[in-house]
Amino acid sequence: MTAEKIREIVAKMTLEEKASMCSGADFWHTEAVERLGIPASMVSDGPHGLRKQDQEGDHLGVNESIKAVCFPAGCGTAASFNRELLQQMGETLGEECQAEGVSVILGPAVNIKRSPLCGRNFEYYSEDPFVASEAAGAFIHGVQSKNVGTSIKHFLANNQETRRMSSDSRIGERSLHEIYLAAFEGAVKKEKPWTVMCSYNKINGTYAAENHKYLTEVLRDEWGFDGYVMSDWGAVNSRVKDLQAGLDLEMPSSGGSNDKLIVGAVQSGELSEKVLDIAVARILNIVFRYEENRNSEAVFDRDKDHEMARRVAQETIVLLKNEGVLPLSERDEIAFIGKYAKTPRYQGGGSSHINSHKITSALDEVKDMGNVTYAQGFDDKEDKTDETLLAEAVEAAKKAKVAVIFAGLPDAFESEGFDRSHMRMPDCQNELIAKVAEVQPNTVVVLHNGSPVEMPWVNQVKGIVEAYLGGQAVGGAVCDILFGKVNPSAKLPETFPLKLEDNPSYLFYIGERDKVEYREGIFVGYRYYDKKKMDVLFPFGHGLSYTTFEYSNLRTDKDSMKDTDTMEVSVDVKNTGETAGKEVVQLYVADKESTVIRPVKELKGFEKVELAPGETKTVTFRLDKRAFAYYSVKIQDWHVETGAFDLMAGSSSRDIRLTKEVTVESTVKIPFVYTTDTTLGDVRKDPRAWEIAKSLVSDDLFGSGDAGSAASEAITDEMNEAMSRYMPLRGPVSFGSKRVTMGDVQTVVDKLNALEEG
Ligand code: BGC
Repeated sequence: MTAEKIREIVAKMTLEEKASMCSGADFWHTEAVERLGIPASMVSDGPHGLRKQDQEGDHLGVNESIKAVCFPAGCGTAASFNRELLQQMGETLGEECQAEGVSVILGPAVNIKRSPLCGRNFEYYSEDPFVASEAAGAFIHGVQSKNVGTSIKHFLANNQETRRMSSDSRIGERSLHEIYLAAFEGAVKKEKPWTVMCSYNKINGTYAAENHKYLTEVLRDEWGFDGYVMSDWGAVNSRVKDLQAGLDLEMPSSGGSNDKLIVGAVQSGELSEKVLDIAVARILNIVFRYEENRNSEAVFDRDKDHEMARRVAQETIVLLKNEGVLPLSERDEIAFIGKYAKTPRYQGGGSSHINSHKITSALDEVKDMGNVTYAQGFDDKEDKTDETLLAEAVEAAKKAKVAVIFAGLPDAFESEGFDRSHMRMPDCQNELIAKVAEVQPNTVVVLHNGSPVEMPWVNQVKGIVEAYLGGQAVGGAVCDILFGKVNPSAKLPETFPLKLEDNPSYLFYIGERDKVEYREGIFVGYRYYDKKKMDVLFPFGHGLSYTTFEYSNLRTDKDSMKDTDTMEVSVDVKNTGETAGKEVVQLYVADKESTVIRPVKELKGFEKVELAPGETKTVTFRLDKRAFAYYSVKIQDWHVETGAFDLMAGSSSRDIRLTKEVTVESTVKIPFVYTTDTTLGDVRKDPRAWEIAKSLVSDDLFGSGDAGSAASEAITDEMNEAMSRYMPLRGPVSFGSKRVTMGDVQTVVDKLNALEEG
């Protein structure tokens, strides 16, 4: 519908109708205005399946929803590093929404994994904003290609569940831009989600829902977002302020009380009716975009989508460790141990919880093989070793050639609504793994969990497979990997630290009551572990394959560029093994010398390539200013410091294969403001400035000035230079033989600033 037509409809609406349009009619629908032909529009969770509730609605996955298909959760889909696959998953969900009459699916969820403890990490993508934003972009592209909207969430800085409705995320502006906003930015700019969901929490003292800076100045004015912003369910606490800040739709609703506040505010002149009209127009625009593009042919083919879920899962399973034990031979005697072999843990709790129409376990998958035994090993209802189950498992392991233990985190350990209190698996499972590994040298652990766990048994087992929360088809996909029908190709989109205490947010997570300070700043995930040169359990970007890849010929189309230009980077990758496979080629950028504190390196490109044995392909990336820049709070913009950068191509953040140095020249000068406190060292960096300032400095500033004296021998030229480096411009007033006054210093400072302003 044209903007003109929408304006006409808005003009016909009463004040009351407009106010009510700005909140839900019920838990999942927007308001209808029959006399004007405005239909109710349904939204549903999201993000990794359709949680459509026909009956009683709730936002925590408590009440029944329709039978649907559960895809792997965000933790896994990000690990695929496969944009095409995420797009296809989005298309499938878009089709399901069309078939079910759902206009907007509530996802993707892109919040940064600041701590492994966040209860909702399973839904989120990564500790790295580039990965999060690229994954989200692909998903959005897929869903919206079916004329169904997405709601990228939860905007902004919602990185813990503890006190999520009242906590205040206190973050520096640079970290917000480089890490937390960046997770949304690329996806919003490139893929234009139809809607954005604002989070519950405050950001630096202001609720996300009433944050004009982020909802309007950043989201709309800077990024060009043109859809509607909806609140997370119950995130509104000051309706009129929220509307003014840019929050269009309140969900679910306040039962009309907030609508009355809007009406009253317009009547009293507190709120301009124009603001209300704009919000209504934004909502109608999306309502009609969906209505006018309904696909009456769409079908929700659950069995077909189950197969799609399996394909997605195959690429989300990360092979963390393999000492020659995998792939398994179908002829060997194998013991499947652990409850999750029979009833996999494949999704997390809360609003994303899908009522799966079927679930395939690993045991279902091997039922016809005849050589696979099963022992339950543990019960996940309580963390207590069941001696009988343990003994049976050890017996089964002894008799087999290989033991595969299906372990992980029970439902009670991770869910929306609360955070984990530690990073351990249940003790009973750790004990089971250790005891089985004692009797069976060929032990493999398959993990079902939504975020990192500590692995005290890491050196006792030969294989570790991270299945994440792999959706309802996970059992089949795990077997595909275990038996080598599919070559693993996923990589960790997050670091697995050795222990929780290593995590950079550890000292400050979960804050003091509502105050949550993000004191680690930009040093989130590998940005921290790399800078601190810390050992980790498994690094960001890590994931093994059944084949090997060789990198060569890292090259660029130019060795040097201005920051207004772009640079093409290519690298050849060869499959040097005997199995076809896919490699995720990662490109990191490192600023070699910088006046601002920066991470050692940051991921700025990734591509997944499929290679037959012996085959070579060239992978190409295009880097622009942003790949080299940091966010300058001073100029409120991204900035590149002129100088050398290393481009690093690798198979993980700790497996860099090739490095090439390039230079980037900045076209933006950040004006330097001189004061009487500016150091002589900083002045010296600019020869023209030094020409002006050196008149203040006498030769004997740091010594007797007496050549050949004992003092001048004790202080070498280098020492003199080093000491004077941190002397402020006002220093010569007190030191040295020249008679310099503060007035002289100020004159020099003024001249320097005049020079700087050009
Ligand atoms: C969650 C959202 C979800 C909404 C609706 C909220 O509790 O935070 O992610 O989309 O409920 O179920």
